[in-house]
Amino acid sequence: MKDKVLSFFGLGYVGLTSAVCFAHKGFKVIGFDADPEKIKLINSGKPPFYEPQVENLLKEALESRFLSLTHNPAEAIEGSSITFITVGTPSNPDGSINLEQVKSASMQIGQALTKKKGYHLVVVRSTVTPGTTENIIKPIIEGYSRKKCGDTWGLCFNPEFLKEGSAVKDTFNPDRIIIGEFDKASGEMLEKLYKGFYEGEMPKTIRTTLVNAELVKYANNAFLAMKVSFINMMANLCQKLSGADVEVIAEGIGLDKRIGSLFLKAGVGWGGSCFRKDLEALLDFALKNNVELPLVEATLKINNLQPYKLIELAKELIGELNGKKISVLGLAFKPETDDMRDAVSIKIVKKLLDEGACIAVYDPKAMENAKKIFGKGVKYAESIEDCLKNSECALIVTEWEEFKNLKPQNFINLMKIPAVVDGRRIYDVESFSSKLRFAAIGLGEKKYYNPALAANAIIQKNNSILLVKRSIKPFKGLWSLPGGFIEYDETVEESLTREIEEETGLKIKPLKVIGVFSHPLRSPVKHVITICYESIIVGGELKACSESAEVKFFPIDNLPKLAFDHEKILRNYLKLKNTSCSNKKHAA
Ligand code: UDX
Repeated sequence: MKDKVLSFFGLGYVGLTSAVCFAHKGFKVIGFDADPEKIKLINSGKPPFYEPQVENLLKEALESRFLSLTHNPAEAIEGSSITFITVGTPSNPDGSINLEQVKSASMQIGQALTKKKGYHLVVVRSTVTPGTTENIIKPIIEGYSRKKCGDTWGLCFNPEFLKEGSAVKDTFNPDRIIIGEFDKASGEMLEKLYKGFYEGEMPKTIRTTLVNAELVKYANNAFLAMKVSFINMMANLCQKLSGADVEVIAEGIGLDKRIGSLFLKAGVGWGGSCFRKDLEALLDFALKNNVELPLVEATLKINNLQPYKLIELAKELIGELNGKKISVLGLAFKPETDDMRDAVSIKIVKKLLDEGACIAVYDPKAMENAKKIFGKGVKYAESIEDCLKNSECALIVTEWEEFKNLKPQNFINLMKIPAVVDGRRIYDVESFSSKLRFAAIGLGEKKYYNPALAANAIIQKNNSILLVKRSIKPFKGLWSLPGGFIEYDETVEESLTREIEEETGLKIKPLKVIGVFSHPLRSPVKHVITICYESIIVGGELKACSESAEVKFFPIDNLPKLAFDHEKILRNYLKLKNTSCSNKKHAA
């Protein structure tokens, strides 16, 4: 079969990867693309995208002359006997499939086939909705060539299942080959081609109708996306349950052979060029056929919301994000690619900007693509270190290997406040949560081991106590003692003075510690140790600033109910005061 020359119409991701793999195996390949710039770039040995091994294979194919490129579609058809259609099938704005490129390739093939002598096989590899090969592609080619399908030319639909980042590996080791055939002769020829490609190790092959093969591709992507959305749904439940961890749930169900362990990694959601496009096209197609696909709808719905879970966790960890410096590690839709199509990072960065955060982003490969999307709104860091420097919270969005290698100490050394939200579950929960503020997708509350240290003040003026009502969670709308978390480079007194000035406008002086209290169930780090100071006012002016909605003195005999442990702390203090007052009276 190596005597057969192949041609590829469309040198995007699938077309070019397949072309260089065939060339590597000793097949003569002709590449055609409608974009002359792309042809020029590829001819110079540069793939128009990043994908492991493709550049090397391309150079090898050009040097060995097993791959040649042309601007002329007729030349590609004339010089080959099997043509793969590998053009893009993007979405229309309403989610339906856009078949323009497929139609135009079919037209060019049809025109060129008019003059062609000998049998020619056309293999559709672009993902198309069921019925497209038979009802759209075949009539176009027949119309332009004026040759009936099955006579001098054959037709197959042959879906690809390549994953970005491992496309070459997947081409050489596929799980199966699906051949949808117009007639036996077409299927036979394609199967023979693959037998030549895989030599003695032919993967399991299914030969079927065109429509079945088209459906297999959609069902495959819908199922994979549903699996990820399913585990993300469980992750959201785990996050609310003390002691729960979605990683264990995934391992537990993944060991059931009927379920399998792959595509059960919970995270901030799936992205990429295929899943959303294909699921939306499938939904649209089903709707036009009066069929509902509720599982596909739910899969999309879960995924639309999943990126925001990361922002919710960040807020639980460090409070409101307005004005805070946030580092986003990872922008590509998955590791080992520079592709940002439908990447969850886009939603995350946009939301962070809406919240008023100052954002630094870093990705080992996708920075150039990111600049086209985010423009001047964010800082493009040059390295992980540059991204984390002075940051108040780091968000892990893509699980690149170099992020996995970071240790808690790296974050502690670089960040202003070492707080990490693991959106891809790459860090060891125990070692991270015992050393820094840590939250992760699908990790229940009990997993926050590290206690946070807070300082609060009891400020009494005449017979009143100063209280604040905060607008941030978990204190939202509740009265509490003024104060806040102790930051890394401050003493407790400095922290308390700063926090109270930020909250109330008043300058205070902490006089003495009246107690240290531990509260295991309080956000953001769940276990909070509060140091409470009796303090006095030394200056400033009372006004609600920063995150407080109201600040007010309350008469001791008419105090509102206070949030969490603050109620108990204040009551204890007042009781002690009274006792000591009455003791003094006794003594007097
Ligand atoms: C997918 C299909 O896997 C492939 O068969 C098809 O031909 C094209 O679409 P691809 O888009 O390259 O491939 O990436 P894939 O590895 O499937 O990942 C898709 C998204 O799901 C990524 O954003 C990834 O991060 C996410 N994902 C995947 C998870 O969040 N959890 C998982 O367990 C697996």
